[in-house]
Amino acid sequence: MHGISWRLIRPLVAKLEPETAHRLTIRSLQWGLVRAPVGSPDPRLAIRLFGLDFPNPLGLAAGADKNAEAPGGALALGLGFVEVGTVTPRPQAGNPRPRLFRLDGDRAIINRMGFNNDGCEAVLARLAARRGNGIVGVNIGANRDSADRIDDYVKGLAAFGPVASYIAVNVSSPNTPGLRNLQARSELEALVARLNETRAGLPAPVPLLVKIAPDLDRDELAAIAEVCLAGGIDGIIVSNTTVSRPPLRSRYAGEAGGLSGRPLFELSTRTLAETWRLVGGRIPLIGVGGIDSAETAWIKLTAGASLVQLYTALAFEGPGLVTSILRGLSRRLDELNLSSIAQAVGSNAEAWVTRD
Ligand SMILES: Cc1cc2nc3c(=O)[nH]c(=O)nc-3n(C[C@H](O)[C@H](O)[C@H](O)COP(=O)(O)O)c2cc1C
Repeated sequence: MHGISWRLIRPLVAKLEPETAHRLTIRSLQWGLVRAPVGSPDPRLAIRLFGLDFPNPLGLAAGADKNAEAPGGALALGLGFVEVGTVTPRPQAGNPRPRLFRLDGDRAIINRMGFNNDGCEAVLARLAARRGNGIVGVNIGANRDSADRIDDYVKGLAAFGPVASYIAVNVSSPNTPGLRNLQARSELEALVARLNETRAGLPAPVPLLVKIAPDLDRDELAAIAEVCLAGGIDGIIVSNTTVSRPPLRSRYAGEAGGLSGRPLFELSTRTLAETWRLVGGRIPLIGVGGIDSAETAWIKLTAGASLVQLYTALAFEGPGLVTSILRGLSRRLDELNLSSIAQAVGSNAEAWVTRD
């Protein structure tokens, strides 16, 4: 179902209610209906980080496979890694529908899903039963009605630490009221301290990454970088969706929730470059927000990302986008005569930081 058949199916999928379209996509990945064309991977795209060997730097962002139903199917598209979740300790229904809006004219999505997910136990059972290789990170969060949110992250780390390639600590979803306050210095310090205690008790240490919002000012960002560096956090994921509204043309522009896709690119890339400057290469960054081509993936890498992730553009462009981005990145390496993608990371970060 690669290539031409997706072109036939896409107009039909685009007519479906967005959540129904998403369910269908997860099912087709689960059943292995969509696969990357066979071809040998480009070894120059491989990168080793956090003690993990990524076959290429392009991953699936959190939220696409919240319940770890299809990580193998997503990897079969040619992605270098998959981040499942966000998972909360207890299952939760999320916000009332409609809560997912496709802004076709803007190549964007607004969502206020609110961490709908099957909960730790069910997702853990799926991951534990999974066969097959490939890097699968787990993104963890807190239940909306939790009395102790930090404790929810501790539970997530304790549950998934032994099976996850890495853990992403999501303190940046705009759809759980108050959650983003965990990005404030004192809250984040407390959270990181508790997570480190828990991590020390795991059978093997698991890489711990923090996922941040694109809506932070420089001081807030500087505090996060400091806390992450001091607390031994292994990497920072920049960024989640934005609550800001750059100019949009779609009739859904006024819906509440987080905006992703093309209109997020500029803001999330600037936040990425700022973070790159603050951490000074001491820990790697994952760049996410508005990647929809090899060009935009390359810009993220050169703005400071060692790895990149995408979600929204896949919903618009279909699975063939993965191969097209990877091929485009290989072409870039040819043109610049580089022997590995790592050589490009951060090479243009300063230009983004000094921009107004
Ligand atoms: C429908 C939807 C659900 C999402 N759910 C989550 C989530 O559960 N946890 C999370 O950390 N990010 C979530 N995200 C954010 C994405 O992981 C990503 O950070 C953001 O969409 C920007 O990337 P993109 O422009 O390529 O989509 C979600 C995004 C969308 C569109």
